[in-house]
Amino acid sequence: MPVTEIKKDIYWVGVVDWNIHDFHGYSKSPQGTTYNAYLVIDDKITLFDSVPAKFQMDLYHQIRSIIPLEKIDYIVCNHIEPDHSGAMPFLMEKIQPEKVFCSKMGHRMLLDHFHQPDWPYHVVSGGEEISLGKRTLSFLETRMLHWPDSMFTYLKEDQILFTSDAFGEHLATSERFDDEVEQGVLMHEATKYYANILNLYSPLVKKLLAKVEEMQLPIRMLAPDHGVVWRSNPARIIESYGRWCNQQGNGKALVIYDTMWESTRTMAKAVCEGLHDVGVEYKLIDLQVTHRSDAITDILESSGFVLGSPTLNNGMLPRMADFLMYMRGLKPANMVAASFGSYGWSGEAVKMMNEIIKELDVVLCHPGVKVQYVPGHEQLGQCVELGRTVGRAVQALMAGEKVESAA
Ligand code: FEO
Repeated sequence: MPVTEIKKDIYWVGVVDWNIHDFHGYSKSPQGTTYNAYLVIDDKITLFDSVPAKFQMDLYHQIRSIIPLEKIDYIVCNHIEPDHSGAMPFLMEKIQPEKVFCSKMGHRMLLDHFHQPDWPYHVVSGGEEISLGKRTLSFLETRMLHWPDSMFTYLKEDQILFTSDAFGEHLATSERFDDEVEQGVLMHEATKYYANILNLYSPLVKKLLAKVEEMQLPIRMLAPDHGVVWRSNPARIIESYGRWCNQQGNGKALVIYDTMWESTRTMAKAVCEGLHDVGVEYKLIDLQVTHRSDAITDILESSGFVLGSPTLNNGMLPRMADFLMYMRGLKPANMVAASFGSYGWSGEAVKMMNEIIKELDVVLCHPGVKVQYVPGHEQLGQCVELGRTVGRAVQALMAGEKVESAA
């Protein structure tokens, strides 16, 4: 992949990973990803972030096409997760930089990852400025976005904010800029990225956006560590983050289920009928064919969800348990929810799903529907009514009204 000059003397020197389809081992990334590193040519030549160790030679050739590596003076480590620091031992040997800039936590993490106390660390704090000659770096603490070490670096004169994991997408592409890719794909991948990686940290995203607004930082480009550089419409992704971090749903509902002998699937369709009756748009998600990371992406922009699982071995089906464990960690909020499911003789699944719903900042708006073995006409009517109740609760939520809890 050729290097790209994103602005005069500022280069994207990253790597495109077309093959990674399972990021972090828990999130499907069918479009691959990029590991973005950036090189600024100034009196002090500076490299921002790196790439996974297995791509270190790709990074080498990228940089080498512009300058010999030993000419680099500074390395800025905005984030220490191995997808952005894995090549550091190799780079340190080749470059022998004058300084490695990192946050206080970044320093600790570099030591914990690479065990090299003699590297020339320079710990920076929020607001600190470093001159490169014609340009100035200014650092922003962004703890937990995505790890405790994470920070942003602002290149003042060029008005470029290097944002580490924030504002990224897992999108392998031959193009480097937001205006060069298909917009639907771009925003879908940005939504999926936020839902699966950052949603848990929404309160911190909210604080960060408020801080950036208060600082009145002029932003010409957002340069994240994954995906495209936002040069034409950085406001679009900032506005989306503003919506997502406030967990503002779109008034739609999801029916998410797994089934064993079709009874819970039949119930799921009846719940959808109830949502339709009251005019709420819905999506039916079968966990047998939908990966957890796609289901959680739909959760991010919805206002309600209904969970369905039959009882198996005094619990719920494993795919539902997997999804709920995942969802519980990502903490969706400002929604309404309920559950349903069939059972043979013990019937614990609905209670268990309700317990997890109650742990979230989500209103359980119906006690749930349980059906023994196979639903009959009357029991399907209860499922339709469940759908109507959830639908009305979604509408109340969207109208800013209080939704009564059934807990
Ligand atoms: Fe792309 Fe948190 O690493």
